[in-house]
Amino acid sequence: MKKIITTIAICGIAAAMVSTTSCKKNNDDDMVVTPTPTLYDSLGGTTMVADPTNSGQMIEKGRLGIRSVVDSTIFVIAADTALNKFFPVLLAEVTAGNTTGFAALSKNLTDFFCVATGAKNFTYAGKNMVDAHDPAKNPRMNGKSSTADFDRFVTDLVTGAKKVGLSDQLIGQVGAVVNTTRSQVVQK
Ligand code: HEM
Repeated sequence: MKKIITTIAICGIAAAMVSTTSCKKNNDDDMVVTPTPTLYDSLGGTTMVADPTNSGQMIEKGRLGIRSVVDSTIFVIAADTALNKFFPVLLAEVTAGNTTGFAALSKNLTDFFCVATGAKNFTYAGKNMVDAHDPAKNPRMNGKSSTADFDRFVTDLVTGAKKVGLSDQLIGQVGAVVNTTRSQVVQK
C-alpha cells in the first residue's frame, strides 16, 4: 500500500513534468519526432561528469545539479531558526558528528527531485510525502508544518539554489515542482 501511495504521489508530480514531443519534417519530407527536454535535461540531464565529492566516480550532470541544490538547501534550513526546530534528530546527529541521517536525507531528496523532474535512471524509495511530514509516521519530523512553514521552505530552497548558481529560470521551474507537493506536506 505504501508503495502504491508513493508511486501515485510521484506519478502526480511526474505527470506535471511529463516530456512531450514535437513533430518536424526533415529534408526528405519524413516526419521526425523530437522529445521536448524535461526539466531534468535542462538541469544537465544524463551527461556523465566526474563527481566532485566522490573521487574517481562519475555522476549524471542533472543529478549532480539537483544534489548540489539539495545539500545547499539543507545547510540553509539547518541555520534557519524558523525551520530548524522541525529537524531535531538530524541536527543532533550532525552535531555529534554522525552524518548517516544527513546522507540518507540528501539521497532521498535527490532521488525525489530527480524523479520529479523527469530523470529515467533513478527511483525514489523513501516515505510518501504525507507520511514523511506526519510526525506520527516519521519521528524525525518534529511537529506538523503549516502553509507559512512551507513558504519558508521554498524561500530557503531558492536561497540554497542561488548559492550553487542555479539560474532564476531553472529555480522558477524547480519551484513549480516543489509546489505540487504542498497539499501533502502542509498538515495543519
Ligand atoms: C517543499 C516541499 C518538500 C519536499 C519535496 C520534501 C521532501 C522530503 C523528503 C523526500 C523527505 C525524506 C523522506 C524519507 O527519508 O523517507 C523529507 C523529510 C523531511 N522533511 Fe520534507 N519536504 C518538503 C517540505 C518540508 C517542510 C516545509 C518541512 C518542515 C517545515 C519539512 C520537514 C522534513 C523533515 C523534518 C524531514 C525528516 C528529516 C530527517 O531525515 O531527519 N519538509 N522531506
